[in-house]
Amino acid sequence: MAAKIFTGISLLANTRETSGFVRGNQLATLPSIKNAYIIIENDTIAEIDVMENFRFSKGDFSMADDTIVLPTWCDSHTHLVFAGSREEEFIDKIKGLSYAQIAAKGGGILNSAKKLNAASEDQLFNAAWKRLEEVSKLGTGAIEIKSGYGLSVEGELKMLRVIKKLKEKSPLKITSTFLGAHTFPIEYKENHRKYIELIIHDMLPVIAREKLADYIDVFCENGFFSAHEMRTICEAGKKYGLKPKLHVNQLNSIGGIEAGISLDALSLDHLETLTENEVEILGKFKGASTLLPSAAFFLRMPMPPARNLINAGAAVTLASDFNPGSSPSGNINFVISLACIQMKMLPEEAINAATINGACAMEIEQDYGSISVGKKANLIFTKPVPSLAYLPYSFGSNLIDKVMINGTFI
Ligand code: NIG
Ligand code: FE
Repeated sequence: MAAKIFTGISLLANTRETSGFVRGNQLATLPSIKNAYIIIENDTIAEIDVMENFRFSKGDFSMADDTIVLPTWCDSHTHLVFAGSREEEFIDKIKGLSYAQIAAKGGGILNSAKKLNAASEDQLFNAAWKRLEEVSKLGTGAIEIKSGYGLSVEGELKMLRVIKKLKEKSPLKITSTFLGAHTFPIEYKENHRKYIELIIHDMLPVIAREKLADYIDVFCENGFFSAHEMRTICEAGKKYGLKPKLHVNQLNSIGGIEAGISLDALSLDHLETLTENEVEILGKFKGASTLLPSAAFFLRMPMPPARNLINAGAAVTLASDFNPGSSPSGNINFVISLACIQMKMLPEEAINAATINGACAMEIEQDYGSISVGKKANLIFTKPVPSLAYLPYSFGSNLIDKVMINGTFI
């Protein structure tokens, strides 16, 4: 295949070669090349440099004047496989119903579980496929997808098999996380031990045998799983090689952070509710502190303290949390705008958090998350824009012209 060459790019953004999380005050630095060109061979970035060094070589040659080229977004926390939407709860919340009242009406995660268990694998696959197409046009090139709406052996395995099929068929890079511990099914509300045994003895061995997941997750929260229960589940998962990526401190601080760190978690996600001490601890935590501002926005909750985390040295990462209950959108462009507007992250910080740090939070940073030679040609080409900051500034506008995945425009 002939090389694809793009010249006169006003800014090639995030050209870092180093791998590993970008932390603390380093987040404000976004290595970039002004007035650049890029050469792509097959699915790989073959050459990048300033235009002064450009020597014409054979290949498809396009001008990309006034456009910014970015690495595609790496969305490291989603629940993209689900059956049906939950806008009736959205209306109930507008009318003032509490979370407990909505749950009493059969809403929440259990509502999604009922719908998921009634759906076929094909229905789930087709709906998820459409969502993947939608987010890829919005610039997402790699994505983590969790189970967690099955909450039964068959339901969880069905979800994970759908994710596995998406992995095989989609051009996007997908990682899979087992979240059987999303909530307790009604029949186990008074018998936590029994459901945890189901996870450990009936779900995990099949997941391991069929290679259905890369990671394990638990929703550690009052009324859901305690830090102790999370530890039991994650220790069982680790025996099968599943590293934890955890939902902690969304509503309460109940010891999930300390437990997650001692379990050697890859990422600790949500973090809306943090004590000063926990901010300090996350500053030293080697994994990702993943913030999901569109979920806080949708639930009308205070935003996670991104500035305090950055000041403490944390590896702040941004993701969409795409799910039908708390973030029915997988639009990372909006997540980046929210991060800048509501959490006072600089555009450079937000872009690092949604690209290289997202890649690290899925352990795919060798191939994704920045524009450097040898990595996959997964690129966002913007419409003509005056500056990088213009992207989060003009929130709600779609400024993406084209998205390239594995060297091909989608
Ligand atoms: O990440 N917090 C737990 N789980 C999801 C929302 C689940 C739902 O309401 O369906 C989240 O926000
Ligand atoms: Fe989530």
